[in-house]
Amino acid sequence: MISSFGTQLERWYESFGRDLPWRRTSDPYLIMLSEFILQQTQIVQGMSYYLRFAERFPTAQSLAEASEEEVLRLWQGLGYYSRARNLHKATQKIAEAGCFPKDYNFVRALPGVGDYTAAAIMSFAFGEPYAVLDGNVQRVLARHFGINEPIDTTQGKKLLRALADEMLDRQRPALYNQAIMDFGACLCKPTAPLCETCPLAETCEALSTRQVDKLPVKSKRTSVRDRYFTYIYTRTEDGQTLLHRRGSGDIWQGLFEFPMIESDKPLTLAEVEEKVKAKAKLELVAQDVRHQLTHQHLHADFYLLTLPTDYESTKGQWVEEKSLDHYALPRLLERLLEKIM
Ligand code: ADE
Repeated sequence: MISSFGTQLERWYESFGRDLPWRRTSDPYLIMLSEFILQQTQIVQGMSYYLRFAERFPTAQSLAEASEEEVLRLWQGLGYYSRARNLHKATQKIAEAGCFPKDYNFVRALPGVGDYTAAAIMSFAFGEPYAVLDGNVQRVLARHFGINEPIDTTQGKKLLRALADEMLDRQRPALYNQAIMDFGACLCKPTAPLCETCPLAETCEALSTRQVDKLPVKSKRTSVRDRYFTYIYTRTEDGQTLLHRRGSGDIWQGLFEFPMIESDKPLTLAEVEEKVKAKAKLELVAQDVRHQLTHQHLHADFYLLTLPTDYESTKGQWVEEKSLDHYALPRLLERLLEKIM
């Protein structure tokens, strides 16, 4: 007898699945923590952050009680900082509730928790039958069942959601969900999938119709915006630098940065001198350093402006250069700082 789709995935997972620290726990808070970290971060990069957070904040209560500054500082380098702020707010709601409720509607309503994360928490922590549907699962399902419908349309999303719910192993939702995600990440990969060793090859629609590299189909390309940032790193002779905190409504909310000019295209040295006005030494340190966000490509030029002691400025607050590591900076600026320290 041919075993079912789910059973074969689970068998594959039991032999080849990855041993990851958040898979060894059923603590809903730790599972939520890992899922927030992994929302836009690769496992190799997220692992050390997960371990550090779990050590410093072993419970939702302990994270809820921390200051936002401390949470952002520990998050520093992971990017997409709204995840950290949402995680912080979510733990405050859990702390208010007294314990982590085993309640889908509560979990789904937490800040930063969408359908995927809610299903992950409910199944991994509580063994509840909610099917996860992330990019890996979409790919596995679209290929195995030969779904030609674009997966980013209302119709396509509905179809995949129904299929995901249908295929879920309701007896073992945690095992099944981990299995299908890992299978997508490790075997049924976006490029160069390992079809020769795939235990599901015999029943794979995409393989038998030679469509593996065509599926899943997407209807539109997401548009990407280029942004040009010119940073002026100020340095006084006694080792002070100017910082300001970014406001809301744009990337990097609440993080610190150096004085910056945004423009539609890169600025020339003459244009930068014109804007800076200060009669001081201005050096270009790095040009067109790129930083990619989901819908934005940032291009940064980085200048060093050396100023006399006691220089007056209204552009932010003066801080000691040697205390810069007390401030949460975007990863891009950490990379730029390495060039002048
Ligand atoms: N990516 C998101 N959640 C994950 C998990 N629980 N295991 C592995 N990769 C993941």
